[in-house]
Amino acid sequence: LKIAILGTGNVGGTLGRRLAQKGHLVVFGSRDPTHEGIRGLLDQSGPNATVKPLNEAIDGCEVVILATPWPAAEGVLKAVGNLDGKVLIDCINPLNATFSGLDLGFSESAGERIARWAPTARVVKCFNSISAATMADPGYEGTAATVFYCGDDTEAKRVTHRLAEDLGLDPVDSGPLLNARYLEPFAMLYIHLAVREGWGSNCAFRIMKRNSQR
Ligand SMILES: NC(=O)c1ccc[n+]([C@@H]2O[C@H](COP(=O)([O-])OP(=O)(O)OC[C@H]3O[C@@H](n4cnc5c(N)ncnc54)[C@H](OP(=O)(O)O)[C@@H]3O)[C@@H](O)[C@H]2O)c1
Repeated sequence: LKIAILGTGNVGGTLGRRLAQKGHLVVFGSRDPTHEGIRGLLDQSGPNATVKPLNEAIDGCEVVILATPWPAAEGVLKAVGNLDGKVLIDCINPLNATFSGLDLGFSESAGERIARWAPTARVVKCFNSISAATMADPGYEGTAATVFYCGDDTEAKRVTHRLAEDLGLDPVDSGPLLNARYLEPFAMLYIHLAVREGWGSNCAFRIMKRNSQR
């Protein structure tokens, strides 16, 4: 697939590098494609990755991964232009200014708001409940970390599922986009454990089942 990654930080950099290494064509969309750090990211990502300014990044891409801070999301979506029909994978947690909680919840989610800002895109919430360290290495003693995703478009969810599997994760379809209201607080629980309880970023949630129904 040809995939645009908006944001070149922990999440965008890790997902883009690994997807490029898996054979996907990756275009990093950056506010400043010449900034320090981009060169190293491109070197690590290999020949399948390039970088472009935000207003050129999504050209010809079937999939767009949004990996910016929450306060930047609306502006970045405006800057990239028309997302008509593209799969838009939203990794964002709507953290408040002190990172101590969420800006939204219960009756709205970042995923739903992003879908309103990009009304012609096919939005899937995914990758928000695992750390960048788990995106880099999803295996825990031979068992894949679970990544939950939700969205309203079946085909977009199928594409997202496949990308998560390509990365070595255990993807779980968690229903409609409205369920981002649950996936975002779920990630806040993760952040609490990782940061405040001292678990660090090398831990992940795993769902268990008694028989193979999925
Ligand atoms: N870190 C994690 O483990 C983790 C896990 C799951 C989900 N998330 C979520 O994923 C998103 C990205 O997290 P991250 O840790 O990758 O953040 P980060 O390291 O700060 O990277 C964010 C990237 O977004 C781009 N960006 C665009 N507009 C920006 C602005 N106004 N201010 C700052 N950066 C801007 C920047 O790339 P350019 O400079 O190239 O434009 C920047 O490198 C967040 O919403 C976070 O809640 C994070």
